[in-house]
Amino acid sequence: MPRRARRPRASTLLDRLAAEELIVVTGKGGVGKSAVAGALARLVSGRGRRVLLLETDPRESLHQYLAVPPSGGEIVAVGPRLLLQNLRPSAVLDELVREQLRLDALSRRVLSSPVYRHFADAAPGLKEIAVLGHAFRLVRGLARRGAPRIDLVVLDAPATGHGVSLLAAPALAAEVIRGGPFGRMAAELSRFVADRGSCAIVAVALAEEMPVEEALDLQRMLAERLHRQADLLVVNEVLPSFGDESEGSDHDDPLVSLYRRRRQLAARQLARLRRDWRGPVAELAMLPLDRGPELLDAISDSLAAQLDRPIAPEPA
Ligand SMILES: Nc1ncnc2c1ncn2[C@@H]1O[C@H](COP(=O)(O)OP(=O)(O)OP(=O)(O)O)[C@@H](O)[C@H]1O
Ligand SMILES: [Mg+2]
Repeated sequence: MPRRARRPRASTLLDRLAAEELIVVTGKGGVGKSAVAGALARLVSGRGRRVLLLETDPRESLHQYLAVPPSGGEIVAVGPRLLLQNLRPSAVLDELVREQLRLDALSRRVLSSPVYRHFADAAPGLKEIAVLGHAFRLVRGLARRGAPRIDLVVLDAPATGHGVSLLAAPALAAEVIRGGPFGRMAAELSRFVADRGSCAIVAVALAEEMPVEEALDLQRMLAERLHRQADLLVVNEVLPSFGDESEGSDHDDPLVSLYRRRRQLAARQLARLRRDWRGPVAELAMLPLDRGPELLDAISDSLAAQLDRPIAPEPA
């Protein structure tokens, strides 16, 4: 019987996120996905759950936020109830082959065959399914013996197109491959990511035209393909306000005028999100800090303050 951890009662958005099994943090390259994923992982582990912070980017960066050495592919403990892994999707696929084939000599032959290597590298959606499958198996207690107990995975999703390609991969595979162990796994994963009680989706954007466009695109595609919405949008690196910001107010110092202009452009994008984004929005200020623990502390504190407020129950 797969083990499922007892879930805390949901009353704030943070409680609700902490009650999930998977939180996918997605967004365009460089918008602060890793920072937000790291902060959320910390906050939900502070709610008593055993959390794995999972990244799949070979350029490991989460360890810098956590001030620990690179995890090198293994699951390593980085704090109370907080674990970190930099996952190579191809390693998960190899492990699945080994499990399914069981016979060592046979799996060795498959793993070393050029056909398998080519398939594993090129088949669309396979790596995405491997990553989601890895998270699913861990939180459901289905992973190989000796795997640590994990209640919740926070996935720092790779910055490829819209996060939708990651989230829609199982449904697309399940449509094509019906039955068999792979088809069944794909169908199960597609239900898993579509279920808002199991999987939360957190989008990260900047208050600029293109990232906002992408966030709204993500919202549309989630509705079309997964019949669900995201749970939170984090607008990162918002410039703090200072002084009079009315449009057209010029200043002697061109740098001040430039700053105001940037603030005004950002304000328009924030207004657009307020109008078109369905669901909670959190804002994070642009901080004069480098990637590292201090930045992570500040982002964690700001998110905690914004997400730990009581929320109205969502309409069914
Ligand atoms: N609120 C912030 N204030 C100042 N700097 C920030 C803030 N958030 C993120 N940064 C900086 O922006 C850069 C990108 O952040 P991060 O690596 O978290 O983004 P990412 O979306 O994960 O990037 P990638 O797509 O490359 O993985 C980093 O140098 C980080 O230090
Ligand atoms: Mg990153």
